[in-house]
Amino acid sequence: MVKVTVCGAAGGIGQPLSLLLKQSANITHLSLFDIVNTPGVAADLSHINTVSKVTGHVGNEQMEEALKDSTIVVIPAGVPRKPGMTRDDLFKINAGIIRDLAVGVAKHAPKAFVLVISNPVNSTVPIVTEVFKKHGIYDPKRIFGVTTLDIVRASTFVSELIGTDPAQLKVPVVGGHSGVTILPLLSQVSGTEKLSQEQVEQVTNRIQFGGDEVVKAKAGTGSATLSMAFAGARFTLAVLDAIQGKTGVVECTYVNLESDPEGGKAIKQVVGDDVTYFSAQVELGKDGVSKILSVGKLSDYEKKLFEAAVPELKGNIVKGASFITDAK
Ligand code: APR
Repeated sequence: MVKVTVCGAAGGIGQPLSLLLKQSANITHLSLFDIVNTPGVAADLSHINTVSKVTGHVGNEQMEEALKDSTIVVIPAGVPRKPGMTRDDLFKINAGIIRDLAVGVAKHAPKAFVLVISNPVNSTVPIVTEVFKKHGIYDPKRIFGVTTLDIVRASTFVSELIGTDPAQLKVPVVGGHSGVTILPLLSQVSGTEKLSQEQVEQVTNRIQFGGDEVVKAKAGTGSATLSMAFAGARFTLAVLDAIQGKTGVVECTYVNLESDPEGGKAIKQVVGDDVTYFSAQVELGKDGVSKILSVGKLSDYEKKLFEAAVPELKGNIVKGASFITDAK
């Protein structure tokens, strides 16, 4: 039995993500949890002729039923930023939502792999970690921040410039999942040597702030949902492949460096000992993270990007972790 639970399944990301997961033959039960509307979404999806059973669960009283026996829990729950709200207001609301869902997972699905989409991922992943530590179920190999949209965007934007098939182009994007913490490693992509430094800087900036293009085009009605759902489904299915025994699965994802057998030594050599979470290429196996790969050789320009990213990333991590550790 493979049960995948989507928390926030009625939302802008949650619905198309659930639709994409419904197409997988590897999922036997798709469980949809939200505070609204999941019975309708579940009824609708359940008519699609693929193997998975679909169930909808609403509100705290149905959380246990939604989560129990989950193999994977994917979390795109949250609130979008509304006019008048500061980023800090948004952080506090989403942080509280993630904390409550993490407590639910700790109680009802302690063995699940947890894939966090809700922003700010740099901080929400540390929140899940701290909640799991409090509940005595912490295993860093099973907690992931989904950064796949950065890789998807990078493949699209870079292939537009160098004229390749975007579906085949793999661009490593490491670091974190917002703004200057997003570090595309274009120097490692063949074909980019024909780009000028100005083009490299422009496309790097476009990858780092790609989310803003969508926010602007949606004119105040929301942020990326469809491309995020695509990326979220791709990552979920990759994790599922790995835990079902497929070998050689490598994905860029945001993890605690403790998940690596060597404590993330290869990353710490580049970013310093006090960075605790990082998105990097990770080998996935039956138990989740099996190895974090080195970031490889960096260009001088990329080294400068790292210098700008590290302090910001550290601040984001502390902000998330202290939301739990400083709470009374
Ligand atoms: N438990 C479960 N679901 C919740 C909870 C909760 N405590 N609180 C809110 N939700 C649900 C909402 O009911 C809604 O259906 O989360 C869903 C969020 O959907 P949208 O408001 O459409 O937001 P979306 O665009 O999908 O973004 C969700 O992902 O990328 C991030 O920054 C984004 O944090 C935001 C999140």
